[in-house]
Amino acid sequence: MNNTLQKNKEYKKFVVDSRLQYFKPHATKIEKTFAEEISSGLGTNSKSIHPKFFYDKKGSELFEKICSVPEYYPTRTEISILKKLQSELSSYLDEDFRLVELGSGSSTKTRLILDFLTSQKTLEYFPIDISEILTESSEELLNDYQNLTITGIIDTYEGGLEFLKTYDDKSNLIIFLGSSFGNFSPIDGYKFLEKVYATMKPGDLFLIGLDLVKDKTILESAYNDSEGVTAKFNLNVLSRINDELDADFNLQNFSHHAIYNEKDQRIEMYLKSLVDQSIIISKSDLELKLQKDELIHTEYSHKYRLSQIHDLLDDVGFELKHTWLDDKKYFSLTLVSKT
Ligand SMILES: C[S@@+](CC[C@H](N)C(=O)[O-])C[C@H]1O[C@@H](n2cnc3c(N)ncnc32)[C@H](O)[C@@H]1O
Repeated sequence: MNNTLQKNKEYKKFVVDSRLQYFKPHATKIEKTFAEEISSGLGTNSKSIHPKFFYDKKGSELFEKICSVPEYYPTRTEISILKKLQSELSSYLDEDFRLVELGSGSSTKTRLILDFLTSQKTLEYFPIDISEILTESSEELLNDYQNLTITGIIDTYEGGLEFLKTYDDKSNLIIFLGSSFGNFSPIDGYKFLEKVYATMKPGDLFLIGLDLVKDKTILESAYNDSEGVTAKFNLNVLSRINDELDADFNLQNFSHHAIYNEKDQRIEMYLKSLVDQSIIISKSDLELKLQKDELIHTEYSHKYRLSQIHDLLDDVGFELKHTWLDDKKYFSLTLVSKT
């Protein structure tokens, strides 16, 4: 690492053993950001909570449960594609690549890629995730992959990319799975891809998993599962604000609301206020007033057409290498490079 001193100012380094280290921004910075972002998101007329705040410990556990509800096709579909692309993807990896993952979560899908990277001279993995789940997932991976070393960055995607940018000269395969990119608005998504591109060195590869436009009923069912796990996941962000920002949300006064907006090609997820109410969020210094039926926006999940994916990646400057689909054409994985 060539700029250790600079990074140490922003991050605290935790060395677990010779195979696992992780970096985390100083606690005060994290708390301040959460309180400020909640204040600016809820202190305006069109109220919102950024989806990155879903992922406290409970939120990450609930997301794992969502992945296995029958209606939530993205996870099992993307896994089915990852299983098929292994040999083709490995043909692009003729060097000693490090695997970098944005939003690594439980790193379950990662295993399908690590499985065919084990022939690399050294197997190095850089998970980047805002959630502490990263430490548990990393320890599990180390038990199963003997030649693996892990450097985890518990931060936003953008923070992790900055960290990676000046790290060293090794080639990177950056993966961004689960259609998490769909959470960005089109403008922010474009800027984000530019950031990924700027982080990459010539020869680096980027593999992105994106959900495709499909029948509205299938989409809406996926975000309104019959067991109510997605509803719990959505409502959990209010519990998190209660716990960490000293607020008094009564969860009984809210319901989960998810609809597909066909024009903008996105699932829109909200928390709906069931009554007129007023909530104090002490650490954000905010008294939030909500009317009955008022919506707090919590997540977009954009869906794409293949041509849109290719045009977007091409506009940013990437070179398209390959796109893989499942049999039903529900989900896509696209590999691009920086030339
Ligand atoms: C939808 S889950 C996907 C997890 C996994 N990649 C998969 O495909 O199943 C999103 C993951 O990204 C993390 N995440 C969400 N927003 C983030 C952000 N802005 N910066 C860093 N990590 C983020 C979450 O903690 C979570 O683990």
